[in-house]
Amino acid sequence: MTIPTLTVRGFDIFKELLDAHAQAEMLGDLRDVARLAPPFSPQTPYGKPMSVQLTSAGKYGWFSDATGYRYVQQHPNGKTWPTIPPSVLKVWQQLVDHSRLPDCCLINFYGEGARMGLHQDKDEADFSWPVLSISLGDEGLFRIGNTSRGGKTESLWLSSGDVVVMGGEARLTYHGVDRIKFGSSSLLSKGGRINLTLRVVD
Ligand code: SIN
Ligand code: MN
Repeated sequence: MTIPTLTVRGFDIFKELLDAHAQAEMLGDLRDVARLAPPFSPQTPYGKPMSVQLTSAGKYGWFSDATGYRYVQQHPNGKTWPTIPPSVLKVWQQLVDHSRLPDCCLINFYGEGARMGLHQDKDEADFSWPVLSISLGDEGLFRIGNTSRGGKTESLWLSSGDVVVMGGEARLTYHGVDRIKFGSSSLLSKGGRINLTLRVVD
């Protein structure tokens, strides 16, 4: 069993679970995904594009437009999403489960100034499955709130190779990323942060 480095409001945080070699291998696999499914900045239902660029792997990918946020089975280019790379699935198998694998890997890219507002992940069918998050590249200031909007929050920096498991009581806890420390990691030569979230959707 792998023991979390710390637990904050039910979020299990595994600092530097991925070493430099594992990070580089995963990055190579993500480049292959991005070639087949190029990252894009979807429109939010509020009319503005998201500040992050995103793409997905697996049966489902994340999408939004004027009608709302949802899972879809095709990239905007009309093709099905690429499969989730084994280097990514391995982390799920290590920390979550061997029998059921995630059917969505959302890949968010945070360039300079990108952020993600506080939100819940609540579009999946079964909340008994956790969401597993992997951070690569520049540090990101991750904010953890409560299971309803408002109230006090706690923030911590996530760095390259850190993994967070959001499950159990914390599965519906609000979370977001206030900012990144652009250029703080050398993993991506042009800077930026990548966050992967593995989800069981149906
Ligand atoms: C997310 O909640 O989808 C992203 C979290 C992160 O970027 O760390
Ligand atoms: Mn989320």
